[in-house]
Amino acid sequence: MKTLLLTAITTGFLFSVSANAMDAPAKSVTCVGCHGAAGNSMVPNFPKLAGQHATYLEKQLKDFRDGFRKDATMAAFVKGLTDKEIKDLAAYYAAQTPK
Ligand code: HEC
Repeated sequence: MKTLLLTAITTGFLFSVSANAMDAPAKSVTCVGCHGAAGNSMVPNFPKLAGQHATYLEKQLKDFRDGFRKDATMAAFVKGLTDKEIKDLAAYYAAQTPK
């Protein structure tokens, strides 16, 4: 019971922090580790995505997926994403505020 309540609180907290203007797409859960909460990466090696133009983000993600832009790490994470999932991710990150 206690654990359930804690989980509910933590989940609610996480969502209220990360959701800005629109809900985070399910596929963005894996991106957080490198690109930070809501695309505000704290690590210099990982680009910030927050506030970047959606058209640009969408193109980069498709280029990684389709092999036109080469990065082994990113290729592994966009592999298998549909055009719709990529569009949703791009729209989500474009709507975030850079920090
Ligand atoms: C293990 C770390 C890691 C994960 C997880 C990861 N990325 Fe990346 N991402 C990178 C790195 C490193 C780069 C820079 C690649 C390069 O140098 O070309 C990058 C680049 C990008 C770029 C290009 C940014 C630009 O300014 O050109 C986009 C867009 C992006 N990632 C989106 C995502 C999305 C969306 C996800 C989740 C589906 C994700 N990434 C998951 C490490 C990661």
